Amino acid sequence: MSTTGTQSREPRTATPPTAGAAARPGPEVRVLEPGELRTAHALFGAALHAGGPVDDDRWAVTRLSYAPGRTFGVDLPAGTLAGTATSFGSALTVPGGARVPMAAVTRVGVRADRTRRGLLTALMREQLSDAADRGEVTATLRASEARIYGRFGYGVASRGRNLRVTAGARFRPGAPAAGEVRLVHPDEAATLLPPIYARILTGTTRPGPIVRDDGWWALTLRRPAADAARGIAVHTGPDGDDGFALWTVRQEGTDFGENVLELHDLHAATPQATAGLWRFLLGVDLLRAVSAHLRPWDEPVDLLLDDPRHCRTTGVGDETWLRLLDVPAALAARTWGESGQEPLRIRVHDALFPANDGVHVIGDRAASAIGDSDGADPAPAGDGPADLECDVAGLAMAYLGDRRPSELVASGWWSAHDRAAVPRADRLFTTSEVPWCGTFF
Ligand SMILES: CC(C)(COP(=O)(O)OP(=O)(O)OC[C@H]1O[C@@H](n2cnc3c(N)ncnc32)[C@H](O)[C@@H]1OP(=O)(O)O)[C@@H](O)C(=O)NCCC(=O)NCCS
Repeated sequence: MSTTGTQSREPRTATPPTAGAAARPGPEVRVLEPGELRTAHALFGAALHAGGPVDDDRWAVTRLSYAPGRTFGVDLPAGTLAGTATSFGSALTVPGGARVPMAAVTRVGVRADRTRRGLLTALMREQLSDAADRGEVTATLRASEARIYGRFGYGVASRGRNLRVTAGARFRPGAPAAGEVRLVHPDEAATLLPPIYARILTGTTRPGPIVRDDGWWALTLRRPAADAARGIAVHTGPDGDDGFALWTVRQEGTDFGENVLELHDLHAATPQATAGLWRFLLGVDLLRAVSAHLRPWDEPVDLLLDDPRHCRTTGVGDETWLRLLDVPAALAARTWGESGQEPLRIRVHDALFPANDGVHVIGDRAASAIGDSDGADPAPAGDGPADLECDVAGLAMAYLGDRRPSELVASGWWSAHDRAAVPRADRLFTTSEVPWCGTFF
């Protein structure tokens, strides 16, 4: 299966606003100039209650994470910025290991005194249209609130669990124990970590991981304020460096030892490297616990421990919100869980991108899959009867393998015109690994 890295077809542009909205023109969205990005960043920070303007040192690094020409803004009549949204170009790993171009959407905010007047709606339309014009097959984001993005066609496509693991917990005798872990300085990490991550990404069979660009790494590793109490470790296995972890430590009490290590990032190429990094973290002195946010469901920390109850799941949450911009290309790029089966016909509704609207035929015997492997364009949406029906957000929820079609039918996200198609759809959409991204942006 080829990656759909280059899109030669006609660019997809979002439909204009509905007749009602057209009668009352929406706010005008424009691409911000480089000199306006700091103001946009402050606006976003204030909207998220994450602090206002950043100091010069911080901005020197933060500005690197703004991709040129990808930040949009909406102005008040007086010309003051009232809302903003940005993105950077990345690629999303889909089931089967292909990577499709992706817009990583972030820093969405509207001034508190200008919310609920359609500013976000105007920004989202423009941003999605721009991403599609760039040939990006998907857009993803992390949502501050779960009710914001569904209306724009985003659906939750991966979830994770939050862990709290007792520091010093003993490992089972059979748990992997090979490999070495060493601490590295942030300056060294800036050179070491990106290629380790790139190697892990190349080898991964898990759906969901994305390409991290230079700006993302700069923001993560060179952020001045994060230097205090920050740890970075690299794991070395038989084939060299094969994993890393990044954390901060916060005090939970006043005594020595009343600390919690907050794990921010842990990626590993092998189960041995995963175990080695967790073994290291849980062995750090003067800690009560290691806590981690949105780890993959199938990370076997509890299974590594002598007493599995030392690993508690403290929460679960949505991770990747996925918007399929080019449904035919996305469907052609992924592999299907069961080969040689009759293709399945799914009617997809997409109010924003008419080219996605219609019947898509999926499975390894579908025309789109055959077309893609021949290097031809994926089959466009067609017409006629369908076995199943959903909107584009519902399709996104199954696309990486997070939700089974039967769950989505049972909860009303999808409808089934042929009940026998539901278990067939489950078998087609299933993935061997749980989807998870592991990159916050
Ligand atoms: C979320 C946010 C960007 C929405 O901007 P906005 O300009 O108010 O959004 P719009 O006016 O275009 O709203 C479009 C629709 O979404 C709804 N909506 C917007 N934000 C919502 C929220 N937080 N919860 C529920 N519904 C919301 C609106 O009610 C509106 O629905 P309606 O058309 O049925 O009335 C803005 O409230 C904000 O900046 N919040 C704080 C920062 C933040 O959370 N940013 C997102 C980071 S991921």
